[in-house]
This record gives sequence, C-alpha cells and structure tokens, in this order.
Amino acid sequence: MASGSLPAGPISSVAVTRYATITGVGSSLPPRLVPNTWFESQVDTTDGWIRDRTGIEARHFAADGVVTSDLAVDAALIALESAGITPQQVDVIICASVTGDTPFPATAVWVQQKLGLSCPAFDVNAACAGFSYGLATATAFVQAGTADTVLLVGAEVFSRILDFSDRQTCVLFGDGAGATVIQASDRPGIEETVLGADGRAAEILIMPGGGSREPATPESVQALRHRIRMPNGREVFKRAVTEMAAACRAVLEKNGHTADDVDLLIPHQANARIMIAVAERLGIPLERAVVDVAEVGNTSAASIPIAMDRAWRAGRMREGDLVLFTSFGAGLTWGATVMRWTMPEVRS
Ligand code: ACO
Repeated sequence: MASGSLPAGPISSVAVTRYATITGVGSSLPPRLVPNTWFESQVDTTDGWIRDRTGIEARHFAADGVVTSDLAVDAALIALESAGITPQQVDVIICASVTGDTPFPATAVWVQQKLGLSCPAFDVNAACAGFSYGLATATAFVQAGTADTVLLVGAEVFSRILDFSDRQTCVLFGDGAGATVIQASDRPGIEETVLGADGRAAEILIMPGGGSREPATPESVQALRHRIRMPNGREVFKRAVTEMAAACRAVLEKNGHTADDVDLLIPHQANARIMIAVAERLGIPLERAVVDVAEVGNTSAASIPIAMDRAWRAGRMREGDLVLFTSFGAGLTWGATVMRWTMPEVRS
C-alpha cells in the first residue's frame, strides 16, 4: 500500500477508527451528442414524448472503436488529478459495468493495462446499481486496511447493446464514465451503504443472450437476444421509486439522520420522473436533488459518479455537506449511501 497502512504487529489498546471517503471525482462523455429527434427516424417516437416521459433531450454515443475502458480511463485520470495523486498510488481498481470491453477479462483489467499499473483489478456487475455495490466494496477494502486507495469507475457503452427497433428502451440510455477515488481518512467520509436485490424480478430487465443460458449462435444474434430487453417498463419504474426511497430512508435512519439533514440527493439518473418521485417520497425539495439527465441520458453504472462530478464542478457540493446517493437497476438491485462530503470546493 502506498501510505498509512494499518500496523501489522499487535493491536494497541488505543482503538484506531479508520474511515473511507471520496477524495477525487471525474467523468467523461463521448463527444457525439445524439438528440431525441435522431430517434424519430429509427422508431415510432417523438422528441416531445421522450422529453415528457423521461426528461431526456439528448445522450452521448461513443464513436466506433471507442470502448468502455477508454471512457473509464479518461474519467479515472481526471478523478486522480482532482485527488492530487498519481495512478501509481492506486491499490485496487474496481469497475462497475454491464457493457465491458470483453465478457472477460474484467474491464478493470483493461483500465489497469491502459494506466500502466499492476494492482488488483476486478469488475462489479449490479447493472444500474453497480456504483452502489462498488462503493460498498471499496469502502470495505479501505476500512479493513486492505487498501488505502481504491479507484472506482462506473463505465458504460450502452449504445452497443441497444435494440434500435425497440422504442421502449433505445431512447433511454447513453454512454459515459464516472470515476471516484476512495481513500482512508481519519474522519467520516462515507458513513454507510445499504444494498438490496430481488432476483424474483430478474426477467423484467435483462440481456437474455450471450451467457451460459443462451450462448451466442447466429440465430440468437439475428433475434437480437444480446440486446437489452425491458418487457414491463412501468413495473421497473414503480420498483425504482419504491426501492430507492426505502433504501434512502433505511441508510439515513441507521446513521441518525433525517431527510431534512440531506444537503444533496444524487439519485441514479434513469429518468427525471423517477428521480422527482423519489425526492418527493423522501420530502427532499428538488433544489436539493441532482436531476442531470437532460443531456446525458441513463448511463447505468456510470450515472451516479457522472452526476456527482458534474454537481461538484458546478459548485453544488461543499465540504461538510450531507450527501445521499441512491441507485436502482436490473436484478433487481438497489442501494443507498450516506456520506459527509470531504472534498474542498472545486477550483475553477
Ligand atoms: N415513444 C413513444 N411512445 C412510446 C415510447 C417511445 N419511445 N416508449 C413507449 N411508448 C408507448 C408505449 O408503447 C405505450 O403505448 P400504448 O399505450 O399504445 O401501449 C405508451 O407509450 C405508454 O407506455 P408506458 O410504458 O405506460 O409509458 P410510461 O409513461 O410508463 O413511460 C418508460 C415508459 C419511460 C419506459 C417508463 O416506464 C420508465 O421510465 N420505466 C423505467 C425504465 C427505466 O428507466 N429503465 C432503465 C433501466 S432501470 C433504471 O435505470 C431505473
């Protein structure tokens, strides 16, 4: 470990509390901005329908040849710079993604290769809740003394798994990456992450083909089985609101907070209506919530760190603020994190 490792010898009688906190953030969106009107020539939809039902006006799509780890590395370098550290100080890389460069090895390994590092590297797959699962893992690594510095990246090139003949799904997603640096700290920092999953609803948001259940065949590729399927968008919507609100309440209560204490809510950027409903259920006024989906779309596991980076750079997060992140995705999976923001205000 780069610095500050726990003593290997006998534990002293003085209890040492080791916390984890976010010390760096960065994000990367590919330059090609695709407006809603582009979809009007692909499927039976309108710019107005997409705006009204989702709040999305445009999303970014990666150019041919750009892969998930490219976006991840761009975001990671910005996050490392904001933390004031070099890539060599990273002890572990965790990448949350469902659209990795390759089914294996992990996208985190491609990121490690591109950063020229030799530290452990692995992926977390919890779909749109991947950042919450990754953050819980990174926090545990740091608090246990297994690592001093974790690079956690959420990165997706979702455009490669969209079915551009399915109007229910193709208009929702975008490509991008968000990165965070999680480091040991003598003050909290990250207070807690709660996680949840419900495998009974696994089929309502799924890429059915390409795994051991339906290995790739010419027929399965032809039938677009390797693309996202969402047979019941309305149910996904309802569960997203219910589970994110419940997870937020649980993590706040466990840590002695109420919704009134929250300075900024950063929900998974799926759909403005979902985010507004979550904020309303919690009683958090919208001016204390980040709804930044208009020109980004749903970037799945990348959405929270992208929204976090953009909010921090816009001056919306100050040292000492109580920040609440919450996510929801295929699985179903969900999570919520409460933390005291410890990064100084952004320098312009
Ligand atoms: N353009 C025009 N019409 C559409 C489109 C579209 N792009 N998509 C669906 N419709 C139609 C439907 O076919 C339906 O038509 P019908 O009444 O003739 O059958 C009508 O619009 C209403 O459909 P609903 O599904 O009831 O519309 P709703 O208001 O629920 O919005 C949406 C649909 C946006 C998909 C919504 O259900 C949703 O956001 N669900 C959550 C999905 C999501 O975010 N998934 C991402 C992954 S999980 C996550 O990140 C939280």
